[in-house]
Amino acid sequence: MTAASASGPDVGPGGPVGLYDGIMTTRAMRRFTADPVTDAEVEQVLRAAQQGPSGGNIQPWQFLVLTEPEDRAWIGELYRRAYDRYEAALLEGVGGFRDEAARRSWDRTVAASRHLADHLAEVPVVVLVCMPDIDMTVVDDQGPMDVGTPYASVYPAVQNLLLAARSMGIGGALTTVHRIHHDEVRDHFGIPAGQQVVALVPLGRPSGRFGVAPRRPVDRVTHWGRWGERRDATITAYEPPADLPR
Ligand SMILES: Cc1cc2nc3c(=O)[nH]c(=O)nc-3n(C[C@H](O)[C@H](O)[C@H](O)COP(=O)(O)O)c2cc1C
Repeated sequence: MTAASASGPDVGPGGPVGLYDGIMTTRAMRRFTADPVTDAEVEQVLRAAQQGPSGGNIQPWQFLVLTEPEDRAWIGELYRRAYDRYEAALLEGVGGFRDEAARRSWDRTVAASRHLADHLAEVPVVVLVCMPDIDMTVVDDQGPMDVGTPYASVYPAVQNLLLAARSMGIGGALTTVHRIHHDEVRDHFGIPAGQQVVALVPLGRPSGRFGVAPRRPVDRVTHWGRWGERRDATITAYEPPADLPR
């Protein structure tokens, strides 16, 4: 492990990773080694999380960091209970994959998600991302204005957190199944009633490698000028550099 510095981000094994390569190779990491994540590293990823955008710059996030074994055991048990129920319902209706690659990708996600559910208590750090129950609706004499959901002011911070972690060789995943038992989580950790726990993020040293997660080609999801107006991609498929840091 490299030493954390107070001023700048630590870097993961193999050295610094460029911003674009880091984004392209950040995927949900759900299998971890037992190596620790230091408090300084947690602070560094949370500091980066805070640089995320929020409506009106309200910065509605609060982070509850769980590192004690008994806390992780408690949240691990709750997460598994939630995931058991979620997985059973999810697998009931599954099928109709567009091709074999899509089916394999689904199988991998299900297996990794099950692994996380069975091992969350062993992950070195679990971050609960909280936000207040707020209504961001602005009203004028013409009535309320829909300017989007308050959740949109927190999830960018979670992605920043994951990207900062990736730059330091730390993996994680945005998860939400704890919400099935949300009030239990809030009560157990003394989180005020006016707060929502909107994400649970495990953080640890990945036992696998970062890499490019499967996505549709960008030209399949892009419209130019008018809905349905397509252009053939002018870029080739992304290839990470051969010496990409882990
Ligand atoms: C709103 C949201 C909720 C999610 N909830 C869970 C979850 O409860 N458990 C889990 O293992 N992954 C969860 N994920 C992670 C997704 O499964 C993951 O982002 C997706 O499969 C893509 O993974 P990839 O980037 O590795 O391809 C969630 C992601 C989002 C954005």
